[in-house]
Amino acid sequence: MADETATIEQDTEATPESREWQPVILGILCNWCSYAGADLAGSSRRHYPENVRIVRVPCSGRVDPMFVLKGFQKGFDGVMVLGCHPGDCHYAKGNYYARRRIALVKDLLSRMGIAEDRFHFEWVSASEGNRFAELVTEMTENIRRLGPFQGVTPTDSVGPDL
Ligand code: FES
Repeated sequence: MADETATIEQDTEATPESREWQPVILGILCNWCSYAGADLAGSSRRHYPENVRIVRVPCSGRVDPMFVLKGFQKGFDGVMVLGCHPGDCHYAKGNYYARRRIALVKDLLSRMGIAEDRFHFEWVSASEGNRFAELVTEMTENIRRLGPFQGVTPTDSVGPDL
């Protein structure tokens, strides 16, 4: 685990002088559907950009909003969360909980001034390797267009209005 962390930090800390800038995307994937979909994309030799660094979680319901914020804090240019389709969650309702939390995450990111296209939440099943590849390709292109993540620029008060 420590070696993976070191690799991610090396990737995100690379300077423009050391190489041409490439987006680095954190992909948080549920084990049972989306991770299997990513695996299928690889085993079926489907080409997609190598810009995503995958973290596997047991279920999208396990994704704490802090995981997303931590991703940006660590210097990722974008974060994607992928889970099982509604009705397919192996823990029955985890993806429904995730969907509710993600709505709050999107609102929070917006208030922090983080562009909408830097975060993506989607359903990907174990048989949707092509879909996974398409999502990674689309997100990489979007973030390449936005440029490197420069940190937060709050656009609104995050706390209650006084
Ligand atoms: S097991 Fe995949 S979203 Fe719950």
